[in-house]
Amino acid sequence: MSDPAALAPRLPAGFLFGTATAAYQIEGGHDADGKGPSIWDTFSRVPGAIATGETGDTACDHYHRWREDVKLMASLGCNAYRLSVSWPRVLPNGIGRPNDRGLAFYDRLVDELLANGIRPFVTLYHWDLPQALQERGGWASPLVVPAFSLYAGLIAAALGDRVKDWMTLNEPEVVAFAGHYVGVHAPGIRDFKTAVGVSHHLLLAHRAAAKTIRAARPDARVGIALNLSPCDPASDAAADADAAVRMDGYLNRWFLDPLFGRGYPKDMLELYRPYFDQGHELDGYDGALDFLGVNYYSRRIVRAGGGPLRADRVDPEGAEHTAIGWEVHPASFRKLLVRLQRDYAPRHMYVTENGAAYDDVIVDDRVDDPARVAFLARHFDAAATAVAEGVPLRGYFIWTLMDNFEWSHGTSKRFGIVHTDYPTQRRRVKASGDWYRRLIAAHRGARSTASPSVRRAERA
Ligand code: FCB
Repeated sequence: MSDPAALAPRLPAGFLFGTATAAYQIEGGHDADGKGPSIWDTFSRVPGAIATGETGDTACDHYHRWREDVKLMASLGCNAYRLSVSWPRVLPNGIGRPNDRGLAFYDRLVDELLANGIRPFVTLYHWDLPQALQERGGWASPLVVPAFSLYAGLIAAALGDRVKDWMTLNEPEVVAFAGHYVGVHAPGIRDFKTAVGVSHHLLLAHRAAAKTIRAARPDARVGIALNLSPCDPASDAAADADAAVRMDGYLNRWFLDPLFGRGYPKDMLELYRPYFDQGHELDGYDGALDFLGVNYYSRRIVRAGGGPLRADRVDPEGAEHTAIGWEVHPASFRKLLVRLQRDYAPRHMYVTENGAAYDDVIVDDRVDDPARVAFLARHFDAAATAVAEGVPLRGYFIWTLMDNFEWSHGTSKRFGIVHTDYPTQRRRVKASGDWYRRLIAAHRGARSTASPSVRRAERA
């Protein structure tokens, strides 16, 4: 199954092969050239917040090594790249005067990508809110909505002559709930009501920013990257089935339904009644997505339980896991993509993140990572099957280009297809990177042999 020559013809012509990164996880340069602090600069300094005690102050030092990193992508044959802009790098106070030196960094980076035949997909918010805005309430305050929209307008004006593909937000569910209910992400708040309110402000911010981007750049394509997973009941018991529906409502439908013009799901409004009473603001709301970005890592198995959702996640017996403890389940990936198409029919879809952490080792100057190769091959296979079933998938961004600062895990979890040696900042392409290079090359050579179902998908 991991044979690139067999896989490549099952992906449509024009397919985008990329990797994804996020500013805080790779850039470093945390106070370089006038950048303001973000909530992750603050949070990573809270004792105990990061398992390894690290910060992202240096990370992969991409802020200084971007040219080399673009070369690396080009050497893999990638024709797309998903990056995020650090809001406090370009607006140190969140609003007000832009930082020209910060903007110049992204300007140069975009030029270099295009010069190497790599199409930039830009995420505006991948979790590094300016600390100055947190001090005014952050995502819990409605003030963030116009601030985000102004920021989006600034970036669309600065880069939109060359960048056509935008994602407003990365994983609003994680922003809202990991950041404001579980408290394991910045800003480290632990309150369900606050978290639900944050999720609402995120959706309003998406709408406001999408409008601003389109007004500034009528040819822009605006999407969002959601973390989505099938939620399956742990048993045949009706109580577990109900719990799985609630989990699906929490994780998937709470964001998808409003983005596709249906308002918040009624069952969830009912469940959230003690915490939330503002749903009507989304009446008549439609995310008008040009594409849906899907971040997929694993499925969720659910049984009746506690907390506001009265549901608990369980780890199925005998499951296969990656080094971060997430179950490997490619069949759920196909199921998710097909369901999204059936229930929401997005115009286009991209896999905006998929990948795996493993405990890589360097032997004879090489990183052989067969588990990651198998993971990627099985997930690309699942995606190709979904394409044959009519899913309008147009590209795939592997998480991630190079090992980087994995949030509360610090640098202890390695997701890269390129190895990062942090003390020297040397990059080494792993065997999985070589596998990706072969897949991309095979795709380039394979178009003449594509099957009729793939051809049909291409025409759709
Ligand atoms: C996703 C994040 C990304 C990375 C991967 C492993 O939830 O969007 O930044 O941390 O998980």
